Amino acid sequence: MPNQPPHPNYVRIFDTTLRDGEQSPGATMTSAEKLQIARALARMGVDVIEAGFPAASPDDLEAVRRIAIEVGNPDPRHNGHRVPIITGLARAVKSDIDAAWEAVRHAARPRIHTFLATSPIHMQYKLRMTPREVVQRVREMVAYARSLTDDVEFSPEDAGRSDPEFLYEVLAAAIEAGATTLNIPDTVGYTTPEEFYRLIKGIMEHTPGIEQVIVSVHCHNDLGLATANTLAGLMAGARQAEVTINGIGERAGNTALEEVVMALRVRHDVYGLETGIDTTQIVRVSQMVSRITGMAVQPNKAIVGANAFAHEAGIHQDGMLKHQQTYEIMRPEMVGWPKSRLVLGKHSGRHALRVRLEELGYRLRPEELDEIFREFKRLADRKKTITDADLMALVSEERGLAPEEEVFHLEAAQVVAGTGMPSATVRLRGPDGQVHIATAVGTGPVDAAYKAIEQVVGVQPVLLEYVVNAVTEGIDAVGEVTVRIQPAEAEARPSPQGTARPRTFGGYAADTDVILASAKAYLIAINKMLAARQSDPADTAPASAAA
Ligand code: KIV
Ligand code: ZN
Repeated sequence: MPNQPPHPNYVRIFDTTLRDGEQSPGATMTSAEKLQIARALARMGVDVIEAGFPAASPDDLEAVRRIAIEVGNPDPRHNGHRVPIITGLARAVKSDIDAAWEAVRHAARPRIHTFLATSPIHMQYKLRMTPREVVQRVREMVAYARSLTDDVEFSPEDAGRSDPEFLYEVLAAAIEAGATTLNIPDTVGYTTPEEFYRLIKGIMEHTPGIEQVIVSVHCHNDLGLATANTLAGLMAGARQAEVTINGIGERAGNTALEEVVMALRVRHDVYGLETGIDTTQIVRVSQMVSRITGMAVQPNKAIVGANAFAHEAGIHQDGMLKHQQTYEIMRPEMVGWPKSRLVLGKHSGRHALRVRLEELGYRLRPEELDEIFREFKRLADRKKTITDADLMALVSEERGLAPEEEVFHLEAAQVVAGTGMPSATVRLRGPDGQVHIATAVGTGPVDAAYKAIEQVVGVQPVLLEYVVNAVTEGIDAVGEVTVRIQPAEAEARPSPQGTARPRTFGGYAADTDVILASAKAYLIAINKMLAARQSDPADTAPASAAA
């Protein structure tokens, strides 16, 4: 079997943030953003990165190809760093498999992941294929994929609602045809942990040849059971878990990487299983994904939510002061939450900043450090003490947009708030280098600032989501703003499952002034929309114009 795991209790972490995660409504990412996330996943120790669905569009293929080349090969600067397997998803048709192979073949460890539905409802209504035809197609397409590479994963889509006997037959055909990983998806998040355990156990016991392959699980969260089902599958013998950062994905999402990895670590006594994840990088990657997708993490989200380690009730605080384990089952530092709260101040130098950022896991290029240092000094003028959380917000903010994606730059914003007529004036530098100034009145200062930006840029996107969070405590806290927008009458792009996904764009910014952060976040999202329009005019143009 290719790419043998190091030992029988090793669970491969297969991250599909860039494929299933990107299918979340609103989580579309640019190619540069996908590359940034893929790098972070590799650094964190993810075993397999599903980088996309190459057959969806030439852009998607190119994004996967870039990741295969740049993340899927040994990097001399990171000696000893394990190189992840890079995979791309393909329906069980030749053209999809060819596209996936074209994209991943540049990686040192390429994998093709192909799938075909096996539940009665999918076979009858979606595929219009008989069970015999399904078995035959699986045989042919897995064999075809295997003729291209020796690492092939097959998924019987909607396995959770498939007849187990039929599954054993389909999976045996896939093994005979050369599949090396068999992934069992609960595509619609329907099964319960007990059922899923029995399903995987049954597959382990009744599928001829199963000992030659790795069994994987892929659970959706429609009933909030994704993590429980994944763990049940691992207990039954699966040794690969398919997950996404922050649990993003189709509908209610996928199993969250951070939850499975930390459950295996904290409850090693129960599971006896290990992963290769450096858990101290979890929070940083979670925040990166949230910023890039514009999908805020709910404060009470396990492991990565802002309140996951906050103790509010007096009785809890009292207990914590007496012994940390009274109310904490893991230390926040284990997952990368900052250990110390007060770190730097106005008099801290560039060196201290660099050292602290490195401790937090950020390795910046000298020019990036210069930029962050300038921003740090500006912040220190307004805020007495700069916490780790402030620093993390600052770095996320500065890395918000690759320079080539910045079409309009916000130079200044001024608002008048209060009852009466809230208004805003913005000064933007446009792609022509010209300065544009506009003033608008709105229902509040943020609305006014957004209207003024729209006047300059000449677009009026639909604002789908606007979320403000305070990163730190106190009146001088840094506020972070995440927005998601959609072009008016946006075109939809197909997902692997054939569902339409309207293209939306996210923006993230942080500042002690939340109005400024709001304006910056909005402009970042608009810039992404404009950049996408330039690279693929049909993608974001109003439906009438595209027709
Ligand atoms: O949920 C699902 O069934 C999938 C497969 C394509 C693996 O995402
Ligand atoms: Zn899925």
